[in-house]
Amino acid sequence: MTWWKDTIVYEIYPDSFYDSNGDGLGDLNGIREKLPELVRLGVETLWLCPIFSSPMKDGGYDVSDYLKIRRSLGSLEDFDQLVKSLKDNDMRLILDIPLNHTSDQHTWFLESKKSKKNPYRNFYIWKSGRGHAPPNNWISSKVGGSCWAQTKETDDYYLHLYSDWQPDLNWENPEVRQAVTQVLQFWIDRGVDGFRLDVINKIGKEPGLPDVSVDPATNLPEYPEAFFQNHSLSHRYIQELRSRLIGEDLFLIGQTQGITELEAYAYAAPIRKELDSFLQFEPTDYYREKKQSQEAFIMGWKERLFRWQMIDAELAAMIFFGSHDLSRTVSHFGEDRRYWRESSKALALLLLSLRGVPVIYMGEEIGMTNARYRHFSQYQDIRTCLTYQRRVLEGGEPEEKVLRDVWETSRDNARYPMHWSAESHAGFSVVKPKLSPAINYRHVNVARELNDKTSILSFYQRMINLRKVESTLRRGSFKPLECQPGVISFQRLWQGRRLVIEVNLTSREKDRTFFEEGKCLITTHSKHKRQSKLAAYEGRILVIQ
Ligand code: GLC
Repeated sequence: MTWWKDTIVYEIYPDSFYDSNGDGLGDLNGIREKLPELVRLGVETLWLCPIFSSPMKDGGYDVSDYLKIRRSLGSLEDFDQLVKSLKDNDMRLILDIPLNHTSDQHTWFLESKKSKKNPYRNFYIWKSGRGHAPPNNWISSKVGGSCWAQTKETDDYYLHLYSDWQPDLNWENPEVRQAVTQVLQFWIDRGVDGFRLDVINKIGKEPGLPDVSVDPATNLPEYPEAFFQNHSLSHRYIQELRSRLIGEDLFLIGQTQGITELEAYAYAAPIRKELDSFLQFEPTDYYREKKQSQEAFIMGWKERLFRWQMIDAELAAMIFFGSHDLSRTVSHFGEDRRYWRESSKALALLLLSLRGVPVIYMGEEIGMTNARYRHFSQYQDIRTCLTYQRRVLEGGEPEEKVLRDVWETSRDNARYPMHWSAESHAGFSVVKPKLSPAINYRHVNVARELNDKTSILSFYQRMINLRKVESTLRRGSFKPLECQPGVISFQRLWQGRRLVIEVNLTSREKDRTFFEEGKCLITTHSKHKRQSKLAAYEGRILVIQ
C-alpha cells in the first residue's frame, strides 16, 4: 500500500501560520517551531502553499523564481532544517506549485517579452493581434476581460488564463517541459515527498487557439474552457512529467477543478501513471442560498459529497472542506455561533470518516471562523479587491451589502493569521500582522483549547487517532444509508468490519431512521440522552457486530 493512501494531510498557508522573526508574516522557522503542536495533533503530511519567490499579488501563486524561497519565509537552509525536522518526526512534505503560469516578474518572462528572437520567447504563448483586437476572443472567468495582454516591446500579445501578471507557460515547447521537470527534481532532491500541482488540468491548450462561439443572447463569447480544461494534451504532458521524475513513492496531487468522474479516472487511475490523487470542488463550491433551509442545504451538499465517495474503487480523491481558497469550514457547512463547538466537531467526524485522503486546513482544528472584517480596506485578496472595485466603485452597490457577501466568500477568510493564543495579534506575531486576526481570537485559539478535553482541538486529535487505528475508515468501502433530511449517514466496510457513521448537520434534533445498535466508537456529544435521536450537530460512529 502506498504511504499516501493512509496519510492525513494538513494544509498550511505559510504567510499566516507563525511569525518567528517578528516581521508580521509567517515563515518556515515558524512552521518548524510549531511542529510539536502538529505532531500532537497527529497529522502526518504537510502541504505548504507556494513558498517560492513571488511578488505576492496572488498569494504566491505568481512565482518569480521556482528555485528560491520567498525572502519573507526564510532561506533554503531554513527549508532544509524544516525537512530534517519533519523526517525526524516521520512526517512527509508536499509543495504546492503553480506550473500553468509564472509571475510576469519571472526571468523567463522578462526575457521572453524582450524580443521575438529571445531564446525564452517560446516559453510563453505569444501571438499577434487581429488589427487592434487580441488574437482570439477568450475571456478569463477569474478576473474578467480578455485572456490576452499586449506588450510594447513587440506589439504581440501573450496568453494569461488568470491575471495579466500571470502569463501562461507554453507547454507545447519541450524546453518548458524540461525546465519544469528540473524544477520539481530540484525539490525532490531536497527531500520533498510530492506536489500539489496547481491548476494542472489547464496546461494543455487546443492547438491554434481557436475562437469560442459567441452566445447570441448576450453577444458575449462563451467561457473558453473546452479549449484548455482537461485537454488530452494535459494528460500527455503530465504523463511525460511523471515518467521523468526520479523519486521514490512520489505523491502527485492535481488541482483539477470541474472534472467528471471519467476525467478523474483518466488523471488518477494507477494504470494511467499520471497523478495519484486529485482535488475536485463540487462539494465545496456549493453555498447555502438565502432562503434555503439547513436541511435542504445539507441534502444538496450530501449529494455532491456522496457522488465523489462512490467513484471507482481504484481512485483516491482528496477529501477536504476548507482550503486557502475557501470559506472556513465551520462558517460554511456548520454554525459558527450558537453551535460553534458542536458543529465543528460534527464536521471533523465527517471529514475523517469519509473515503479518500483527508486534508485539514490550518485552524480548522480549533474551529476558526470566517474573518468578517468591518471594512473593505482590511481585505487583501486580489479577488476580493476586484469585487470591491467592480461592485462598489463601478457598480454603485452599497458597500455594506457587498461586504456581507465578502464575509462569506473572501479568500482572506482562510488566509488570516492562525490564532495561537489570546495574547496580542492572536499570538501569531509580536507586531501587527499584514492581515488582522478575526475579532474572536480571544475565544478561538490553540492555547485555550489545548488542555481542554472537550475542545474542538481535542476532538480532532481523537478522530485523527481513530482513523489511524481503524483500517475500515481508511480503506473500507462506502455505502450511503437512508436518513432524515439534514443528516449524513453512511457505512464503511472492510474485511467484515462494519462501521456506521451518522452526523446531524442541523440545529434540530433528528430521529435516527437507521436503527441498528452497535458499540459507539466515538461521539461528538459526551452522553446520549436517547438512543433513537441525534441531538443538534451530533455525530457518532458505531461498530455494528
Ligand atoms: C489555484 C489556487 C489559487 C490561485 C489560482 C491561480 O486555483 O488554488 O489560489 O489563485 O490557482 O494560480
